[in-house]
Amino acid sequence: MSFANQPSPNDVGVAVVGAGYWGPNLIRNFLASDHMWLWSVCDLDVDRARRVLGRHTSVHVTNDLDDILGDPRIEAVAIATPARTHYGIARACLEAGKHVLVEKPLALSSSDADRLVALAAERGLTLMCDHTYCYTPAVNWIRSETARGTLGRIQYIDSVRINLGIIQPDADVFWDLLPHDLSILDSILPAGIEPTAVSALGVDPVGAGRACVGYVTMMLPGAGIAHVHVSWLSPVKIRTTIIGGSHRYVVWDDVNPAQRLSIYERGVDVSTFSAPDDQREMMVQYRTGDMMAPALGEHEALGEVARHFTECIRTGRAPLTDGRSGVRILRILEAVDQSIAEHGALVPLNERARRDVAAEVLT
Ligand SMILES: NC(=O)c1ccc[n+]([C@@H]2O[C@H](COP(=O)([O-])OP(=O)(O)OC[C@H]3O[C@@H](n4cnc5c(N)ncnc54)[C@H](O)[C@@H]3O)[C@@H](O)[C@H]2O)c1
Repeated sequence: MSFANQPSPNDVGVAVVGAGYWGPNLIRNFLASDHMWLWSVCDLDVDRARRVLGRHTSVHVTNDLDDILGDPRIEAVAIATPARTHYGIARACLEAGKHVLVEKPLALSSSDADRLVALAAERGLTLMCDHTYCYTPAVNWIRSETARGTLGRIQYIDSVRINLGIIQPDADVFWDLLPHDLSILDSILPAGIEPTAVSALGVDPVGAGRACVGYVTMMLPGAGIAHVHVSWLSPVKIRTTIIGGSHRYVVWDDVNPAQRLSIYERGVDVSTFSAPDDQREMMVQYRTGDMMAPALGEHEALGEVARHFTECIRTGRAPLTDGRSGVRILRILEAVDQSIAEHGALVPLNERARRDVAAEVLT
């Protein structure tokens, strides 16, 4: 670690826009980064930004985005403002030639997100989504094991993300919490495996004017299924995901730092065979092996986000959570909205699935 009070030549000069609840976490990690130099923080509320930085700082504070867009020392901008502003700010930054890190969700529609992806590609700039959970040691472990095939075929994913949460003024519980689970799913499923259809139901039992409790079911290729329960109305905080693989089961309990991951060598094998009377017989075998808890290094995911963002900027490599992953997540969120409007109808997610459902309806 260097303690110079000047940027080194290879540092990525950055600015953060938005210093509310989440922005300070980015600011803290950028200030601690060995590869970044934080030049500026922009917030409509400059006093808030000043309070976040404290008195002993040389980081510039502004409420004018143009100060950042016109500063040649700033190569990259992290956007932690409310979701409705992401598209406009990200677009302005890309047009000014800045690399961009955007908080979830990337935009309010997949078509706007698509435009950002195209603009970044046209300008040769990095566009990355801060899907923070994808950079945790637990998700890194699960991703590498699913890629190596050690869990076997993914049969189901069951996720619960509930607590007494802040009822957001401009988003329902799906748009607030579901992006986390969708980005985790997007990052751990083996390449080419994506949800094919989604069904969702939500309720607003407290009169908040938006869904506060919701259930989302997604069909996965190969007879798999994923289910996510999100809620702002739970007295207890639960962040648990169970991944059922044909070889192993994984239980990820994110609120249990002593043992976040448990891997079970357990499962059910079913085989069928022909009986002498020409009937099909079924044999069920239960595997009841060991449970092991992998040793995960502890690191703050946002530190890894900062490191990966700078690496992608310097190498031109596509980020793990690039703009395209943001688009995929928005397509599912849009399908969730459609399903809710159609009282839980199963909404196909890609062209082929749409054709299959249409064919099923016709036959
Ligand atoms: N990655 C995560 O785990 C995570 C966690 C929480 C929030 N978030 C995301 O972070 C973003 C911000 O959420 P928050 O809870 O910090 O919101 P917030 O309302 O607490 O803070 C937003 C800040 O942006 C400022 N702002 C609004 N419009 C602006 C503009 N046009 N220019 C400059 N500043 C502007 C506001 O003054 C405020 O200080 C959201 O997209 C949210 O989804 C991500």
